[in-house]
Amino acid sequence: TLFSRIAGTGSALPARRVTNDELAAELAARGIETSDEWIRTRTGIAERRIVSEGETTHTLALEASRNALQAASCSPSDIDLVIVATTTPDELFPSEACRLQASLGIPPCGCFDLQAVCSGFVYALITADSLIRSGAARRALVAGADTFSRLLDWNDRSSCVLFGDGAGAVVLEAGAEPGLAAGVLVADGSRGDILRVPGRIEGGRLRGSGFLYMEGRAVFREAVESLESTAREALARAGLSAADIDCYIPHQANIRIMTHVAGRLGIPLERMETAVTHHGNTCAASVPLALDEAVRSGRLRRGQTALLQGVGAGMTCAAALLRY
Ligand code: ACO
Repeated sequence: TLFSRIAGTGSALPARRVTNDELAAELAARGIETSDEWIRTRTGIAERRIVSEGETTHTLALEASRNALQAASCSPSDIDLVIVATTTPDELFPSEACRLQASLGIPPCGCFDLQAVCSGFVYALITADSLIRSGAARRALVAGADTFSRLLDWNDRSSCVLFGDGAGAVVLEAGAEPGLAAGVLVADGSRGDILRVPGRIEGGRLRGSGFLYMEGRAVFREAVESLESTAREALARAGLSAADIDCYIPHQANIRIMTHVAGRLGIPLERMETAVTHHGNTCAASVPLALDEAVRSGRLRRGQTALLQGVGAGMTCAAALLRY
């Protein structure tokens, strides 16, 4: 039987760091009031990275992928599948995956983007695992990259303080030992109205809005419910319990959502990654960024069990329970 395992992880962040105080000062110049205290207590976020001229979803995905390839000790020619989870590709098409393939010099192979918003990376990881186990690919580059700062309405203080930009990537390769023990994907499209960017390009123009719209409280409730139920389903499928999880990496949107879910599941908080404090919500990049930090800091080690979870617009949710 074929399995897949994470051979290496990598990440990348924009150079510009924006603290809550700096953001509050920028918003104050627009006549909008917020504070470090409000943002910290409601979200846990202390700072985020925001792209500057020359930094894009593509450049971040490229740097994260190079770091993941290096960590996996493999070269671009070893890769035979590229999946990029993103909601903010540099162009409508070609896909970021095709652009990444070209920039890295990866030989002809399957390349596509996957759009499940903040659940995208976990959806992509589960998809790549299935393609590897079916024999369709042997070594996949799976990235999550987003520049949500492009979608933010800086006049909407209830959403613009929450997000940041970044990218993370893993090399997933075929292995003889079980890697991904359970992958759960769900979506409830009937809840699409609470978190969206309701615009499209038509006749060369943007029709509708290009800004993120969010009903914060409804998203909060949905996120807690779906994270808990998909985690429970993943544990049940793998025959494991919360006590078996060495490292919990939920989508890094809001520390209150994360601690709520960890509490309900009975996962000790010291086993939960909290990159949200310094990244904010980086959408599809949030889980692979936090995963890379867990690996590089030694908090997630070979042989340990990790639970990765995404949740986002759609509403989508996913859980990947794996042996690292
Ligand atoms: N600074 C100061 N005050 C603010 C700010 C701000 N940045 N934002 C909102 N407020 C005010 C509101 O105007 C409101 O004032 P009022 O009572 O005078 O009307 C008050 O704070 C409370 O607002 P609420 O929206 O009720 O605050 P809440 O406690 O719900 O926190 C938050 C808002 C942080 C957005 C929370 O609902 C949340 O985190 N929701 C989940 C959001 C999320 O994670 N989204 C991403 C999902 S993943 C994806 O796919 C993108």
